[in-house]
Amino acid sequence: MRRNLQVDGSRLSSRLDALGKVGAIAGGGVSRLALTEADQAGRDLVVSWMRELGLAVSIDAVGNVIALRNGKDDGAPVMMGSHIDTVRTGGLYDGNLGVLAGLEVVASLNDAGIITRRPLAVAFFTNEEGSRFQPDMFGSLVYTGALPLDRALATVGIDGAVVGEELARIGYAGTAAVGKPHVHAYVELHIEQGPVLEEGDFRIGAVEGVQGISWTEFTLGGQSSHAGATPMRMRHDAGYVAAEIIAFVRRLAQELGGNQVATVGLLTLSPNLINVVPDQAVMTVDLRNTNEERLKEAERRLFAFVTATAAAEGVSVSHRSLARFEPVGFAPDLIARVEAIAREFELPVRRLPSGAGHDAQILAAVCPACMIFVPSVNGISHNITEYTKPDDLAAGANVLLRLVTELAE
Ligand code: GLV
Ligand code: MN
Ligand code: MN
Repeated sequence: MRRNLQVDGSRLSSRLDALGKVGAIAGGGVSRLALTEADQAGRDLVVSWMRELGLAVSIDAVGNVIALRNGKDDGAPVMMGSHIDTVRTGGLYDGNLGVLAGLEVVASLNDAGIITRRPLAVAFFTNEEGSRFQPDMFGSLVYTGALPLDRALATVGIDGAVVGEELARIGYAGTAAVGKPHVHAYVELHIEQGPVLEEGDFRIGAVEGVQGISWTEFTLGGQSSHAGATPMRMRHDAGYVAAEIIAFVRRLAQELGGNQVATVGLLTLSPNLINVVPDQAVMTVDLRNTNEERLKEAERRLFAFVTATAAAEGVSVSHRSLARFEPVGFAPDLIARVEAIAREFELPVRRLPSGAGHDAQILAAVCPACMIFVPSVNGISHNITEYTKPDDLAAGANVLLRLVTELAE
């Protein structure tokens, strides 16, 4: 293997820009919610690139796309990948980088005429974001067997759409066996999506693992009544209880400190009219912590608060869990290799945990897995201004290239 082989950073950036035009929204971002027409168009483009690179593309029943490059030997491939679905107001890099850097690794090996000993694979998993259909990391969960296929296909999204029907509609209800091929190792390059690398002038993050994630939906049931004529003492205001919960989760994160974060990202009031006390609020709470015991403590305190506050207002509460992941640690030897390769390339590197969820944390249950982070300008992601400098994209892809070719020998 040529140790000085490098990716073509401008080719990687042009693919990211071209994919970013699919589902483009005003201001420079993208909207490719999972299994929408925009997602379909993005998938079609990436699949066409996979075929151009000579990869054998397979699509499984939940729409995961896996492109294989033969090695000198048969056997389990070294897999690169991520996702190409986005949140409704997303950027060009979240997920897309891991997939397109995988294709750039393949293109560089093709150009150099190098065949690795083990096969390589580039994958994109369905609905990593979990914005439209919960849970997040949906496709990789099915891939590893952690989410049964029939349950996945029956999942109803925030707009009432059903996963199985949407897959068929966009032409990605594939026939390949779910969970094939078995993977020798999984490496995901991703933007950090937070401020840590940029603040310390680091160019590469060797990701130690992913924090635990707890998503809950609460439905609060009150009584609609006249906003002018109903005395405050007689109200059963679902909107008021929702607002108390929003304020509480901020205090909760502050009180628990450390790595605890807490977000209410979705709130729907009904009937949502200026002069009617809301009779219903549907809301989500996203809690995350690197420490499982602290995360459980956050959940306990949240449920106690919701129960007491709703009872005091005479409002009913029901809830359902939309996602629950314990913290995951990546393979220690792979983390160390990311660090060592970055040092060899004279790229300032540090270890850090991931704040966001990733397919790599799901793959980690079935094979050695790791992630490489590159800096996010201003630490911003899930935002149309999400940006990573081209030199950093290329640096991350070069670390990916080296690590993957090592693992494939
Ligand atoms: C998904 O990527 C998440 O971390 O919310
Ligand atoms: Mn992502
Ligand atoms: Mn994301």
